[in-house]
Amino acid sequence: MPQHAFGAATLLDTKDPMGLRSSAPLLDAWIRDMETDRSPFQIPGHKGRTDLTGAIVDGDIPVLPGNHPHRISPSLILEAEAIAANLWGADLCRFGVNGSSGSNHAAVMAVAGPGDKVIVSRTLHKSVLVGMVYSGVIPVWIRPEINPATGLPEYLPSSRLAETLAEHPDAKAVLIGEPSYVGTMSNIPRLAKVTHEYGIPLVVDAAWAAHYGFHPDLPQHPLAEGADIVVTSAHKTLPSYSQASFVLVKGDYVDLPRFNKMFDSTQTTSMSGRILASIDAARALLQRHGEELIGPVIEATARGRQALRDAGIDVIDGEYIDPLKLVILLSSIGADGNAIEAELLNANIDVEMANRDMIIPMITFADTPERINDLIRRIIDAVNRHRGELRPISVAASFSIQPEVVVSPREAFFSKYEVVPAAEAVGRVSAEMICPYPPGVPVLSPGERITQAALDALFSARDSGVRIAFVADPTLATLKVLPD
Ligand SMILES: Cc1ncc(COP(=O)(O)O)c(C=O)c1O
Repeated sequence: MPQHAFGAATLLDTKDPMGLRSSAPLLDAWIRDMETDRSPFQIPGHKGRTDLTGAIVDGDIPVLPGNHPHRISPSLILEAEAIAANLWGADLCRFGVNGSSGSNHAAVMAVAGPGDKVIVSRTLHKSVLVGMVYSGVIPVWIRPEINPATGLPEYLPSSRLAETLAEHPDAKAVLIGEPSYVGTMSNIPRLAKVTHEYGIPLVVDAAWAAHYGFHPDLPQHPLAEGADIVVTSAHKTLPSYSQASFVLVKGDYVDLPRFNKMFDSTQTTSMSGRILASIDAARALLQRHGEELIGPVIEATARGRQALRDAGIDVIDGEYIDPLKLVILLSSIGADGNAIEAELLNANIDVEMANRDMIIPMITFADTPERINDLIRRIIDAVNRHRGELRPISVAASFSIQPEVVVSPREAFFSKYEVVPAAEAVGRVSAEMICPYPPGVPVLSPGERITQAALDALFSARDSGVRIAFVADPTLATLKVLPD
């Protein structure tokens, strides 16, 4: 068992505590650069000096423009991406520094263009919507099943996808988000089969699933289950730097050169070598030690779920759920997740997401069983202090609205607009995207009819303490609408 406890590494061995550099070319090049006294006459402007703005720029190494065999350069990035593609069984892998957001923009543009129809699950993240604005596609929305016991999305039935494809046989791709923000999964092999019957690709935003397939108790990786493009955030479930993302692509239904063109167009021309090397390092770690690192954390999370249940607190659980995703439901116990989050913050514990009805502390294999046990104990204590009246289950705003597309997201996004009081906005067409965040699933997308139901759902999310994001007026007193 490798040593990976917090604080166990000394300064000297923090560059490669797990001995990964021999199988990770970008990590190796980063360490080599760190160990070399260079005189850089290129960007970044800090020139590696930490006596000006401080340690904040330490280790920030750029990508050299030419091809250099042992430096972070385009040829070495290609080598690292090829190793990753081989590990996941892809025809192409691209490392990105603009998160799954940038990768999603590329994925949408790679599969469809202006005026093309795409079938999109309404659990999508806002970055997929932005990708649709960039590409000018027309979305055909498809809703997953909502579990009445939790009010949360469960899975997209393949029969529903088959019906939608039969109604729109000219669709150019199917875009889904798996697992959902709450860790629930659809049956990807079935969805892939239905999609491929139309000769089109299945694109999976798997931002939260980079670790899938590396332990027998985890779901298979979506690529292994038949997806054609899989977008992942290496910085979410893997120990990579913030913004790190990688995309895996199979070429059967995807034009690979077109994918490359779109991917390159979404990335800065001044990529951070450090972010890229951290993807390479996480890949090597997963490959060499994934199963042994993930196992104890799955076990600790399972014990945590049981402890929560024993304390009368509901958690999401089941066969098609990421065992590392801990979603704590508070309606039945009457506690307010915002108050619990505030208590945890006071104890310097930050959670990934909290609203009135739910808390999601994010667990990865960088956690230790001890830290997970401590977290669960603190959550149980906090919930016990906030027990209250049972609340009926309400379906979250993002999952309850039936969208009516009037004009394409792109047309509405670039259109002139008027600002009107919310009450006068009903019946008009939204000029903006309105998302409770997290999870960042739009309730209203640009180009959709504003209904009273959508507004009520948004007001209720706002009133229960959820941040309303990406909107000109987050109080929702006014909305931006298209001119009549
Ligand atoms: C489902 C989903 N896709 C994409 C993203 C964007 O990922 P990133 O933050 O890496 O840009 C997120 C972010 O939370 C997400 O939840």
